[in-house]
Amino acid sequence: MKILEASYVKSAPRVEDFPENRPEFVFCGRSNVGKSSFINMLVQRKGLAKTSSKPGKTQLLNLFSINKSIYFVDVPGYGYANVSKDKLAEFAKVVNGYFKNSKNLKCAFLLVDARHEPTGQDVEMLEYFRYYNIPYVIIATKVDTIGTTKVYSHIKVIKNKLKLTDSDIIIKASNVKGLGRDETLEIIDKYLGDEMSD
Ligand code: GTP
Ligand code: MG
Repeated sequence: MKILEASYVKSAPRVEDFPENRPEFVFCGRSNVGKSSFINMLVQRKGLAKTSSKPGKTQLLNLFSINKSIYFVDVPGYGYANVSKDKLAEFAKVVNGYFKNSKNLKCAFLLVDARHEPTGQDVEMLEYFRYYNIPYVIIATKVDTIGTTKVYSHIKVIKNKLKLTDSDIIIKASNVKGLGRDETLEIIDKYLGDEMSD
């Protein structure tokens, strides 16, 4: 897919507030993992989704129009110790509400930090997708921070912890180096293609 248009639509607490019914792709994962940066990398617009070195930047469902035909949904992150319990509970409500009520979700991109073993909450998120048959793809971010010779062993740790099988897709990504862009856009195409042949 070529990105011809990318614009911010709105921040909304609920999926019912989205202005149109369009195929949706959501980017989720731990706070600070690089969800908003990943969206910017995909659309090649640095400031489109707001990013921050401080966790908890994204607080609502942030909606981006892509090619005037689909939505990217940037959601608050989970599980960061430096974000207050109340805030985290609020974030969880927004994200859970989205997954429960979205009728147009085509694929969830679950971002994990390539440097660390996935957390219990990453595992829970994935189990949720499996239970509800939500298509998902794992994005291992920030691979620029680990030496190229170590990337393979880090990916293996992620695969083990998340119990990924050969049919699961894991993409090595770096928002700094623009890595993982083509693969992700190809996957989006695949889900849009599936829809057209329905
Ligand atoms: P929340 O909105 O708080 O949940 O965070 P987020 O997941 O949207 O993360 P965000 O995109 O705001 O990035 C968090 C920090 O990680 C920022 O300081 C980014 O510059 C940095 N970062 C994001 N992606 C990468 C990457 O691929 N490599 C490196 N080295 N840093 C990255
Ligand atoms: Mg964010």
